Amino acid sequence: MEKYQKLLPFSASIGKTGELEIAGHNVRELAEKWGTPLYIYDGITLKEKIDSLYKLGAEEYKGKFDITYASKAYLSLGFARHLASLGVGVDVVSLGEMKIAGMAGFPPERVHLHGNNKSEEELEFALDWGAFSIVVDSLEELAFLEELAARKKKKMQIWLRIAPGVDVDTHPYLQTGHTASKFGIPIPDGQAVRAIEWAKGSEWLNLIGLHTHIGSQISDAKPYQRAVRMLLKIAAEADFVPQQISTGGGWGVLYRPEDKETKERDWVAMVADALHEECAALGYPLPQLVLEPGRWLTAQAGLAVYRVGFQKKSREGIHVVAVDGGMADNPRPAMYQAVYCALVVERPMAKPIQKVNLVGKYCETGDVLIAGVELPEVKRGDLIAMPSAGAYQLSMASNYNMAARPAVLWLEPGSVELLQKREDPSDAGWWVDAQ
Ligand code: LLP
Repeated sequence: MEKYQKLLPFSASIGKTGELEIAGHNVRELAEKWGTPLYIYDGITLKEKIDSLYKLGAEEYKGKFDITYASKAYLSLGFARHLASLGVGVDVVSLGEMKIAGMAGFPPERVHLHGNNKSEEELEFALDWGAFSIVVDSLEELAFLEELAARKKKKMQIWLRIAPGVDVDTHPYLQTGHTASKFGIPIPDGQAVRAIEWAKGSEWLNLIGLHTHIGSQISDAKPYQRAVRMLLKIAAEADFVPQQISTGGGWGVLYRPEDKETKERDWVAMVADALHEECAALGYPLPQLVLEPGRWLTAQAGLAVYRVGFQKKSREGIHVVAVDGGMADNPRPAMYQAVYCALVVERPMAKPIQKVNLVGKYCETGDVLIAGVELPEVKRGDLIAMPSAGAYQLSMASNYNMAARPAVLWLEPGSVELLQKREDPSDAGWWVDAQ
């Protein structure tokens, strides 16, 4: 259990029965009550992560510092309410996310709208609602938004998302800062400088900041420095003094005990240092630094709980253990070859004695949650906990094979809150009845 502590929610412990507890709640009892697969969020982890990042920002950066949560990592109404009460802003990429943020009590001035292909409806909603900024992703979007703002006679505050031409060492699907990326305005042929000059001169747009997001699950902070220097270089070229700079999110987390530790202080300190240096060299006042973590804030707060079903062993000695979830609630292993670890809820201290392929129940060969994971002996009915489950699992979940998206709980000491009900895809209310 000890080796899993750095992956599990902060409030994880072993109860009197020897079973896994989160915030003092017995996980087996929760699974019995709410069914499996079950997702659990630990309120303490989320709160402490937010507090510690604000503290790091204050310690490392000499200017103003803020956090906006990248809500694509996980969002539901109840979760958004907790986030709003914890003081962070929120980064949204769709009408749905914007509306949930609004319903949860985020004031529009705490909301940024991102996206490489925002619809007119989304842009209009953000404009009418008074979102703090729209993060413009292309020259064409800039022209479209300017026209929309002029038509509505409403001046819109914007950031420009720049593709800084910075490569990062992560899965290719998680890289976004390279010049060929679908995200951001490219620099080399002058588009980025042109966009800044255009926005500066616009009657209907108020350019206040520059943004970049170089990728996700990153553990080396140096590329962030290169991105900051690139942003300041083009700002200077266009004679623009940004009030805000955002280097997006992307800082990585651990999925297995043996994963290389990532130090968030390195991330914040290196971004801060690059900004201090570049601004001093240009004689610019320090802009507000805005970080947009998704995974780093929520992954560790989340725990996925599955129930073991049937097992089989092949003549080649491969031992397959099937659980009652899989790629419908967690597509990450199939999409990015993401590697996780697992422990047994009823016996978290038990020594692993075997290597198994922990597979899901869906009709896909690629529905393997963890290939070759070390586990103690398990039998049908046992519960398996997978740590670091709080980011990009449920938010990318599907109804493949008419799977029900799992129930989601928010735990605090003494309270259990249902964030999402287990879906029922066989519910007639889901379907338009043509008869
Ligand atoms: N800001 C922007 C503009 C983003 O596009 C993203 C993530 C973030 C912030 C937050 O990045 P984070 O701190 O969570 O790495 N589905 C993939 C991750 C996709 C990330 C998309 N953008 C996964 O499961 O690994």
